[in-house]
Amino acid sequence: MGMIKFTIITLFQEALEPYLKTSMMWKATEKGLAEFDFVNLRNFGLGPHKSVDDTPYGGGDGMLLRCEPVFNAIESVKAKDPDAKVILPTPVGEIWDQKMAQNFAETAENAHYIILCPHYEGYDERILSIVDYKISLGKYVLTGGELPALIIIDSVVRLIPGVLGGETSAQIESFSDGDNLEYPQYTKPYDFRGMTVPDILLSGNHGEIAKWRAEHSGKA
Ligand code: ADE
Repeated sequence: MGMIKFTIITLFQEALEPYLKTSMMWKATEKGLAEFDFVNLRNFGLGPHKSVDDTPYGGGDGMLLRCEPVFNAIESVKAKDPDAKVILPTPVGEIWDQKMAQNFAETAENAHYIILCPHYEGYDERILSIVDYKISLGKYVLTGGELPALIIIDSVVRLIPGVLGGETSAQIESFSDGDNLEYPQYTKPYDFRGMTVPDILLSGNHGEIAKWRAEHSGKA
């Protein structure tokens, strides 16, 4: 079985590694279903200071990610795998949702995604010419692409068959049909500080339970 591979181009590998070595993401790698690689953008920096950014033409605050380090880093990965696709987390990208995660998971077999994590105030627009997917995590601005990279990876990898324990749990849960919210769930004890579990769930009547769950699934 082919795995999904993510190569993350970042200046802050140490911010990403702990999460990817924990819980389900770690299990996915242990099971050979996913692989996470890192490329240090600094290694492709320019000059004695290995600089990766510069001031914007036309003036303005802040520094922009330069083309050369980014293209060289991406091309170093593509030299080994020309089919790898490039994802750029950016607040002006397409808003990421469960359907997109599902599409990525369904085509995960032998897929290789390079996630470029920009930092600083932005990037040179010409970088977009080497990008396949511009993805936004929402209408807010983060300091870099590392958190979006983790969210994209987590939401895709957990949908790959074999990553989660119960094969159906990824399907029945919240948002699995795009906008249907999960029904309320309860575990022991039956009575917690006077808050009791709906009795229908203890009835053993699977038809009635399914009906109750359908009725109590909220719409986003
Ligand atoms: N980089 C900074 N903010 C972002 C956002 N909201 N989504 C994706 N990438 C980002």
